[in-house]
Amino acid sequence: MADLQTDFTMPSLRVLTGADVLGQIRGNRASCVDAVRNGYLTHAAGEATNPHSAFLRFPHKPNSRIISLPAYLGGEFEVAGIKWIASFPDNPGDRGIPRASAVLLLNSTETGYPFACMEASIISATRTAASAVLGAENLVGGKSAHRVGIVGTGLIARHVTTFLAETDWRIGGFRLFDLDQSHAAEFGRRLTGDGATDVVVVDEVGDAFRECDLVILTTVAGEPHIHDPGLLSHAPVVLHLSLRDLAPEMILAAQNFTDDVDHAVRERTSLHLTEQLTGDRAFITGTIADLLTGSVKRDPDRAAIFSPFGLGVLDLAVGKWVYDRASAGDSGDDVTDFFGEAVR
Ligand SMILES: NC(=O)c1ccc[n+]([C@@H]2O[C@H](COP(=O)([O-])OP(=O)(O)OC[C@H]3O[C@@H](n4cnc5c(N)ncnc54)[C@H](O)[C@@H]3O)[C@@H](O)[C@H]2O)c1
Repeated sequence: MADLQTDFTMPSLRVLTGADVLGQIRGNRASCVDAVRNGYLTHAAGEATNPHSAFLRFPHKPNSRIISLPAYLGGEFEVAGIKWIASFPDNPGDRGIPRASAVLLLNSTETGYPFACMEASIISATRTAASAVLGAENLVGGKSAHRVGIVGTGLIARHVTTFLAETDWRIGGFRLFDLDQSHAAEFGRRLTGDGATDVVVVDEVGDAFRECDLVILTTVAGEPHIHDPGLLSHAPVVLHLSLRDLAPEMILAAQNFTDDVDHAVRERTSLHLTEQLTGDRAFITGTIADLLTGSVKRDPDRAAIFSPFGLGVLDLAVGKWVYDRASAGDSGDDVTDFFGEAVR
């Protein structure tokens, strides 16, 4: 049988390192938040496919996991892809390297071929932080906080505070709590070095709630460790990025928002534990897309908790935004012979 169509040029694959990715994000975080906003709205409009993530776990290493997040995102993005992200919490202590490592592959929706492979721990932290500040802005109703409390002062918290600073938030002070006080102290030194004022490391988790109108939870807790609904009596906005810190009685004392209800109410998140307790999902007020479109509103007299599960479509939104910028500036390595011969 004769070869078919031997004169085609095979697609190339652009490889972007962490430095390439960061080079596109640094200084452009406000535009990145716009990409995340559009990603949420495209998803909510039904122009996306976001299957459940798969969690690969290890019998001999129960605290570690690798998660796959496949997705398709249409609209202005028109891209498919998958993030493959490992979480090994012992890494920082045992080896002095970060907990999370990841790659993101972007696929063409015309040919199916992957056209980009990029370092994705930065993409992942960036989309998480961008969604956090987007949620905060919509729940607070502006870009200012009297005082921000942070529980778990690691990498994601650092990305969130960088986003807050780069998107012009006005913040009067910070209260920092971490199980490892040296992490909170180092985090505080960085914040102060970046120009923050009234930065205090606190001894007790409750002190990161009291007198803080914006509270950011970024621990690696696997089970709820914050139980007192009284900590919410002053109606703060809580960004519950680590998903498993709050006991159901805390969740039930607040209005709850997420990114996608079907995704977030599983895998023993605090929302999932609350559903198991109450038997329904009536305690969830809506999604961030509902807030963006104005179809639900925050009650300013109640605490508001935003628990975004972290959707594959958001990795695609930020990954495609990075790829477009990198391609325009010819950043990264274009591997032209990755897929071999153009012969069937
Ligand atoms: N929702 C999302 O979309 C999303 C995306 C990415 C990461 N995350 C989550 O964000 C969390 C933080 O990730 P990271 O990369 O910053 O981790 P990290 O290891 O860099 O930092 C976690 C910090 O929390 C502290 N800590 C652990 N348990 C604590 C507790 N009970 N109370 C107070 N402090 C505690 C640790 O000492 C550490 O300083 C993880 O749970 C991760 O799964 C969520």
